[in-house]
Amino acid sequence: MKRVAVLGVTGSIGRQALEIVDSHPELELAAAASGSQPIDGLAPLTQVGGDLTELLERSEPDVVLNAVVGFAGLPATLWALERGVTLALANKESLVAAGELALQARERGGGLLLPVDSEHSAAFQCLEGREPEQVDSLVLTGSGGPFRGRTRDELEDVTPEEALAHPTWRMGPKITVDSATLANKGLELLEAHFLFGLPYDRIEVVLQPTSIVHALVRFRDGATLAHLGYPDMRVPISFALTYPERAATPIAPLDFSQGLVLEFEPPDLETFPLLALARRAGEQGGTFPCAFNAANEVAVAAFLEGRLSFLGIAATVEETLAAVEGAPARDLADLTEVDQAARRLAEKDLVA
Ligand SMILES: NC(=O)c1ccc[n+]([C@@H]2O[C@H](COP(=O)([O-])OP(=O)(O)OC[C@H]3O[C@@H](n4cnc5c(N)ncnc54)[C@H](OP(=O)(O)O)[C@@H]3O)[C@@H](O)[C@H]2O)c1
Repeated sequence: MKRVAVLGVTGSIGRQALEIVDSHPELELAAAASGSQPIDGLAPLTQVGGDLTELLERSEPDVVLNAVVGFAGLPATLWALERGVTLALANKESLVAAGELALQARERGGGLLLPVDSEHSAAFQCLEGREPEQVDSLVLTGSGGPFRGRTRDELEDVTPEEALAHPTWRMGPKITVDSATLANKGLELLEAHFLFGLPYDRIEVVLQPTSIVHALVRFRDGATLAHLGYPDMRVPISFALTYPERAATPIAPLDFSQGLVLEFEPPDLETFPLLALARRAGEQGGTFPCAFNAANEVAVAAFLEGRLSFLGIAATVEETLAAVEGAPARDLADLTEVDQAARRLAEKDLVA
């Protein structure tokens, strides 16, 4: 039996994770947490809000599925990495914000860090068992979101409702807006750098509008491996929770009987500047990625509340990044300070 703790259990990923746990006899739900919604009786141990590491201490899980949204997931990520408890990570923001600190905790803990983000799960599977020197580069794919193909002028007045209408994935509101701005691909670029140890100039982003191809890895001999499947988060969730078994899921395999056309195009970095801003933050290193994430969280919340325009999200992040120092953090307290300072700057700089 694997005892699983699901953090963020009321969310899009959390609910799908419950489905996977329920359908697999070797998985047992040991603990569950939400941010504010009541979840009494859902698991033997539950917690609503507060310090989620207390729940993890009490429940002693074999696997932590971190599906909290945003920086709030960071203490749980560090808890699992530090103790060598298998971490199935959906909460990309924590790895982006903690960066090197998270990698050091993983080094000390020696446990498994299994990505749940579909692109990173795909890349992990293409990379598994390969020697680093065989790998040329990683290609992350993205659908391009609901506004792919639009000009900046056409984005001026878009509403949260329009941004929340994602063409291929049904997800929580924050990541759905991130997908519309391409901040999500930016966060994924940073996440991939820390997960796979590849420099930024060897990670490329390409759009594949139907979200069938999740990632590709190019090798030094000219071969490229790709991971394909219908867009359904239960696949990477199940892969991570049942690793290395790769248990069966109810999701249909790809069907070629009606033909299948795959199209790729480069992202429009001028119309959607957050991807390039994330890349620059990653190259600058230190706590620039943490500040990128914090400013983006503030700006997305303001957009969803109707206090900021869609284009204002990128403008706010850019202003914040220009104002921070980005010095490396020594510990979680340092990081929390950087996060808070960037949030204050972003809130002050909200660019209408
Ligand atoms: N959805 C996807 O398909 C998908 C794909 C790839 C990666 N991810 C990543 O997975 C994470 C979750 O995404 P989601 O779409 O599932 O988000 P979501 O639907 O908005 O759910 C977020 C979950 O986090 C909980 N939460 C929020 N703040 C919290 C806090 N301070 N402490 C504890 N729990 C808190 C929420 O609890 P309440 O309900 O009580 O507020 C909810 O259970 C994000 O990092 C996202 O980037 C998601």
